[in-house]
Amino acid sequence: MIETIQWTDSGVVMIDQTRLPREEVYVTCTDHLEVAEAIRSMVIRGAPAIGVAAAMGIALGMQQAASVSQFDEICETIRSTRPTAVNLFWAIKRMRSVFDELDGRSLSEVRERLVSEAIQIRLEDIAINQCIGKNGAALIPDGKTVLTHCNAGALATAGYGTALGVIRAAIASGKKVDVFADETRPFLQGARLTIWELQHDHIPATLITDNMAGHFLHSGRIGCVVVGADRIAANGDVANKIGTYSVAVLAKENNIPFYVAAPISTLDLSLASGQQIPIEQRAAAEVTHVHGVPVAPEGTAVENPAFDVTPNRYVAAIITERGVARAPYLETLPKLIG
Ligand code: MRU
Repeated sequence: MIETIQWTDSGVVMIDQTRLPREEVYVTCTDHLEVAEAIRSMVIRGAPAIGVAAAMGIALGMQQAASVSQFDEICETIRSTRPTAVNLFWAIKRMRSVFDELDGRSLSEVRERLVSEAIQIRLEDIAINQCIGKNGAALIPDGKTVLTHCNAGALATAGYGTALGVIRAAIASGKKVDVFADETRPFLQGARLTIWELQHDHIPATLITDNMAGHFLHSGRIGCVVVGADRIAANGDVANKIGTYSVAVLAKENNIPFYVAAPISTLDLSLASGQQIPIEQRAAAEVTHVHGVPVAPEGTAVENPAFDVTPNRYVAAIITERGVARAPYLETLPKLIG
């Protein structure tokens, strides 16, 4: 199994996703500031993996804190890393509720409980993804190609993956499935990470550039699209990696189901629609340069929103660990949460 993130005696160990696929190297974050920087620089990325990293960052910060009063400051450092994936805020909230329950306890007891909670969040995430996979496997057509965007695999989670977890489970159930991965400009998560991960597991995978998606969705070869999510609003609007919206529109135009696979922790029912989801803007250099090499004239004006919002009318179903929700999401999503 690909190990995305682990708690060890020497710190939080992560596979460095900025260096894949050329190098498989692991970094050890020895304090919460390094964990925050790893999230910000996308050494670790993908909504559920960011949530696990946030929990471990808080636990790590408290190992070095001189007193329990530093908890808020540590949470604030982690909170200010990336704005879109709600799993980050979900994990901070969960760590805070453990911290609040320990009011009046010794610093060493607080430290111990926060570490075990962070380790538990990682383990739960793997189990949740396996459930998402089982719930989604039946939706994957046998003998067809699945198109995916970005990386919603083991690397984007503590293990197994959400969208790629559904594909793994479909294959495990005996279906013959191959994957088309959009390269996912500008950060190339599809080319660098999804292809690397699928090759690692011997799942047949083909790389296409983002602008080829329409051509292949029209070709009759693609049976469905499965993607992950960074935040899902109460009405079923889905924020995910930039370019997801275009794929969803093209899928609908070609009568191909567009599925979103995500844990319950990615639902943000406090937001009425996707319009309220904060969209991260990233550095211009991600667009003007590829691996440090300029591909645009110096001084070029750039927009670089890292995510877009797919309106709920394009989403055929949302696959979670508690089951599959379909429209009207305003009614079905709260039922899943229970
Ligand atoms: O900017 P990233 O790489 O963190 O964006 C990741 C995505 O958009 C994923 O599709 C999403 O987080 C789901 S991961 C299971």
